[in-house]
Amino acid sequence: MKFIIFNWKSYLNFDESNFLTKFISKTNFKNKYNLIVAPSLLSLGFLQNKYKNVNFAGQNFDLYGKGGFTSFLPIFDLSENNINYALIGHSEVRQYRKENNSIVNRKLKLALDTKITPIVCLGEDLNTYKKKLTNDYLKKQIIETFDKNTQYSEVLIAYEPLWAIGSGMVPTNDEISKIVDFIKFFLKDYSFKKLKILYGGSVNSENLEQLSKIKELDGFLVGSASIKKSFINKFKL
Ligand code: PGA
Repeated sequence: MKFIIFNWKSYLNFDESNFLTKFISKTNFKNKYNLIVAPSLLSLGFLQNKYKNVNFAGQNFDLYGKGGFTSFLPIFDLSENNINYALIGHSEVRQYRKENNSIVNRKLKLALDTKITPIVCLGEDLNTYKKKLTNDYLKKQIIETFDKNTQYSEVLIAYEPLWAIGSGMVPTNDEISKIVDFIKFFLKDYSFKKLKILYGGSVNSENLEQLSKIKELDGFLVGSASIKKSFINKFKL
């Protein structure tokens, strides 16, 4: 089953998130897609409580647990509220919150310990892409993120080139296939119970069909298009 993750970032207010989740909860995607919604933090707990038939993900969480950590999101707020997935290392978190590979590595461990399925975001910037150094860049991200002596359970990796996020630019199918093959090949020395590779970056109604032809992919991580009913309808049974 393909994973479709809707990353609502900070696009929607509380009422809009509620409205769209209600629409999703009444739509039948179940047998074909594993659809996961990552709403804003304020909406997350409320929506999870209200719409039991929808899967939710946190857009992020923090490394600190219970205690005097003003403004942080401890991971138990996700796990204890039946939120089974969380994004880790999204490029916007790396950029604006200065999250690096070492933090991503620690968050990944925490997610495994807490039985949260991590959605780890990897991807190169435009300069790296233009210099044809994408594989080297991803190799470094993988080495610094995953540990060879850890037995990972289910992990989703979202390959999201930074230059494709929110830009309308998308790599060719051939480029994405090759990168997915490369990631899988490079991760052969690591141990996963279940490993899924998704693509993210400017996926929309117009290019979804074309991108869906990439047989190596296990799904998509979608930002701005995922707040549109017309896009969500594409996954209806
Ligand atoms: P986008 O965002 O679909 O708006 O490009 C994807 C993402 O940031 O996960």
